[in-house]
This record gives sequence, structure tokens and C-alpha cells, in this order.
Amino acid sequence: KRPPASILFIFGGSGDLNYRKLTPALYNLFLDEWMPDQFAIVGIGRTEYSDEKYRGHLQEGLDKFSRRKAETDSHYQEFFQHVNYLQLDAGDIASYQRIADYVCKKEEEWGVHPNVIFYLAVAPQLVPSIAQELGTLNLCKEKNTTRIVIEKPFGHDLESAHELNDLLTGLFAEEQIFRIDHYLGKETVQNILALRFANALFEPVWNRHYIDHIQITAAESVGLEGRGGYYEHSGALRDMVQNHILQLMCMVAMEAPVSFDANEIRNKKVDVLNAIRPLKKEDVHEYAVRGQYGAGWMKGKQVTGYREEKGVNPQSPTETYAAVKFFIDNWRWQGVPFYVRTGKLMHQKSTHITIQFKDAPTFAFPSEAAESWRSNRLTISIQPEMDIRIRFQAKRPGQTMSLDPVNMTFTYDNSDDHTPEAYETLLLDVMEGDATLFMRADQVESAWKVIMPILETWENRHPVDFPNYVPDSWGPEDADALIARDGHAWINLP
Ligand code: BG6
Repeated sequence: KRPPASILFIFGGSGDLNYRKLTPALYNLFLDEWMPDQFAIVGIGRTEYSDEKYRGHLQEGLDKFSRRKAETDSHYQEFFQHVNYLQLDAGDIASYQRIADYVCKKEEEWGVHPNVIFYLAVAPQLVPSIAQELGTLNLCKEKNTTRIVIEKPFGHDLESAHELNDLLTGLFAEEQIFRIDHYLGKETVQNILALRFANALFEPVWNRHYIDHIQITAAESVGLEGRGGYYEHSGALRDMVQNHILQLMCMVAMEAPVSFDANEIRNKKVDVLNAIRPLKKEDVHEYAVRGQYGAGWMKGKQVTGYREEKGVNPQSPTETYAAVKFFIDNWRWQGVPFYVRTGKLMHQKSTHITIQFKDAPTFAFPSEAAESWRSNRLTISIQPEMDIRIRFQAKRPGQTMSLDPVNMTFTYDNSDDHTPEAYETLLLDVMEGDATLFMRADQVESAWKVIMPILETWENRHPVDFPNYVPDSWGPEDADALIARDGHAWINLP
């Protein structure tokens, strides 16, 4: 079923996110016949564009970034009939009336009151003032149909996130606010819930009695991609751990939901965040490692070090790699370490979760039968591979009793273009008013609470050994030591 009639106003309409992600996602929804019968997309920006020029600009983006390519030009034409541009200075209060006028016009034309969605794809410092102006429009009092979508970063620390929440919840009802974490829109991330809660097989062993430890890796092979100005004030912990990685951890660790109601799922996730053992500042060095890449080579190409990147301070203490060991203090997870890591310019792009099960309680085979008993492992690959592997011991064919670990793999077919992109799923959910895959105010703040001791410790103690890893590697040696102290090693997928 398609969502009801909708108007999407995209602040930052001439910006990069819209060009690369939002318009391509909306276009794919259109081709897949998921867009409402009546819809309008209005880019809002300061740049001067005619509708025609604006459409031409976005079409370039579609050629480059769309999952599905236009088979004929008529698809583009049909889609772009729904796209307009509104030049508007976000600081000019009077111009917001033009938004309300646009909605009235469409309402008359369509004969229904549409969903009105304000997507703020703008620099974080502009969010409060835009939200405030929007809040003055009568439109925004319509709780069931008007929504506001906020991109990350959601605050810079706990205090600023709290302030932003205060401001937004003063203007909008919580069910009108959609805070994006695009990882939650990924197919393979949603599949974690299916794996865990649609099968009876895994639940009995999904706890401290059977699981030795869990690893979450979000390694990127790209560097800053020209975002030095933003990244320099963020760093890996804020950019990836506070949001994406902690969300993955919630999906893996949460209790079974009673229903798929948005608040039920989010309650269960927030329980995980609240149960993460708070780190004491004096212990941070034992539980967290940071890294920054220097100059080097990446797949045969020379790359500059982080400190030489545009927009970066030549003595920058900003981390481009972070690894943390967490514990979750509840009955299910007591004593099970969760090792998480993320970094830029790593050897390969790979986001995956590994559940390492405990060893068999006793091993009756001759000792020469197997090199290691540590065989039982479940790996959920989020990207670029999209699969789930179970590793177990099997007999090697032959006259001797020799064992080898083997993999049983389920793979999503990622060779064609059928898998929707995260933004497609999330935009569709916004039009449908389903907030399950979005962050609630308390989730965001709880996630900040988890990382604050690390942030504050790192901010007060400048790293002396930066840069401490080379491009095309798996990060700093200290990160290997962090996990080796517990007798483990990071698992890199082949
Ligand atoms: C974004 C971060 O939220 O996620 C980027 O700001 C990062 O720095 C990106 O590259 C990773 O997303 P994905 O979907 O490519 O894993």
C-alpha cells in the first residue's frame, strides 16, 4: 500500500546529501511504485535556481548515484514533474509563509490534506533556527500529518543533544520528530531482528551462558572525502560509535519485543543503552583506544595523512579510528565483552558483527584432530557483503578423524539492484509515519551518556603518538592489544 499524499520540503535542497542520497532514494521509490499517488518534492535552498535548472542538477545526481538507472528519459520527466525549487533564506522569517502557501495550493489542487514533511538536510548549526521558524506555522500543530526529519549529528555531546531535544519537543510532539540514523534503514541491519526474533533456534544460546564475546566492526576504506571541516570537530567516536555502532549493539543485545510497535522496539533498545556499564574516566585507557592515520599508500595510491587534509589542524588530536570494549550489566549479558571498532582508510570496507560462542565443554577427539576448538561463530555481514554465516566444525573427508571449521552461509542477492537503500526505507517510513527505525529523544541522550566519559577523557588528554596507524591497515597496534589482553583477536572477514 502506498503512503498517503505527501509534500516533502527538503532544506538543503541544493546540498550534497540531497544530491547523492535523498533524491536518488525518492526516485527509486517512484520507480518501484512506492511514492504516493499525489506527491511533491520541494528543494529549499539559498542558491538561485529555476525549477528547470534545479531538476537538471538533480538529474546529474541520479545518473551518478541512483540504484536504478532510468530506462527511458520519460521516467525522469515523469518524476521531475513532481519536483520544485523554492529559493528561501532560512534566516528570513517572512519567507516561511511561502511554504504554508505552497501547502494550501496543493491541498486545493489535490482535494486532500497531505502529509507535510520537513527534511532538514542542513548544517547542524542551522537546525535550531529553522525548527523554530517552522514551529510558528500553524501547519506544525497538525500532529498526525506534519513531521520533521533531523539528520545527524544530533548534538555534539550530551548537553547539546539535550538542548536540541528540549527545543524540538517544545515545538513538535515526539511522534512528529524523526531523527535519522541511516544504519537502521539498511536491509541487513533490519534482518538482525528477523534472525533473532523470527527463529527459535538462536534465542536459547543468545546469552552469557553460551556466548564468549561479541565483536562489531565498521571499517571504512575511504578517508575524509572532502569533509575535513566537519570531521575535525567530530572524530570517529562521535561520527560512528555514538550512533551507528551503538545502534547495532542494541539490535544484537536487546530483549525480545512484545510487538513491532515503534515505542516497544525503542524501549527495548534504550534498555540496552541504559545497561551499558558506565566507564570511569580513570579506566578509559584500558577500555578505549583511539587512532589517527598518517600518510601512506592505499591500494597502490599515495594518500596524505589526516593532519595534512584540507580543513584539518596540522596538530589535530581528532581520532579517525576508535575501538572500545563495553559490558552490558544485565542478566543476559553479564561478563560478555562487546568489542567495537571503526576507522577510516582501513584495509577494507567491512561492517560486520561476530558472535563468538564458547568452546565445547570438553573435547573427546584426539588433540591432533583440530587446530582450534574455537569454532562456533555466527557472523552477520552488514556491508558490502550481505550475508549470515555460521561456522562449525566438520569432519574432513578421509580415514582419519580430522576436523576443519566450515561455514554455512545465507547470502542476500546483492548482485542486482533489488535491495533498497537505507534512505529509501527511511523516507518511506517517514511518509507512512512509522518511527520504528528512528531515534527517540531518550535513545539519543542515552547513547551520548555512554560515550561521554571517553570523549571527555580524550579531549583533556592529548594523544602523544598520533599518527599511529598507516592507511590500508587494520588500525593502531594498541587496538590489537586491547582485545589481546582478554585472549582474543579481532576477526577480519576474508
Ligand atoms: C556517516 C558518517 O554517518 O556514515 C560518515 O558521517 C561515514 O563518516 C558513513 O562514512 C558510513 O556510512 P555507510 O553507510 O557507508 O557505512
